[in-house]
Amino acid sequence: MTTTTQTRPTIELSELLDGIRTAVTARATWSDTARLVAEQLRHHLPSPDVLTSEQRLGSPDGYRSHTLHVEPDGSFSIVALVWRPGQVTRIHDHLTWCVFGVIQGVEHEELFDADLNLVGRSDNQLGDVSGFAPPGDIHRVHNSSGTTAISIHIYGTDVTRVGSSVRRYYD
Ligand SMILES: [Fe+2]
Repeated sequence: MTTTTQTRPTIELSELLDGIRTAVTARATWSDTARLVAEQLRHHLPSPDVLTSEQRLGSPDGYRSHTLHVEPDGSFSIVALVWRPGQVTRIHDHLTWCVFGVIQGVEHEELFDADLNLVGRSDNQLGDVSGFAPPGDIHRVHNSSGTTAISIHIYGTDVTRVGSSVRRYYD
């Protein structure tokens, strides 16, 4: 269960926005775009202060999603996700390339093949950034730590228009 709210863009995102714009205007393949955007996020990883103190608390009802920015031409969106301990996504894949970075806590990620066999797992620590592009992006993310986790996700679409970054759920 996830709820979405729109927040105001902050000054802290301006260098990241410039970097992502340069990356997406290169009109590379999705996987190259994900790599280029991941480089930008590594250099300009926001702090948890992009969210209000209330937003940083998360919700007992499930992880929360806060849209930080939607590029006017629809080429990308930036979303912050807040997970309390134990909160987990459904198994899903994505409509587009995705880049994410952890700005607080740890996120445990499980990767599945098309038959939903577990093919990889990783603990994404504070400061870790990774990017991927469909296909082969079926995953589930879980806050397996004892503290609230926050991550920044960048998707190659206008998530407010298409409703979600998710292409399909697998449960
Ligand atoms: Fe995802």
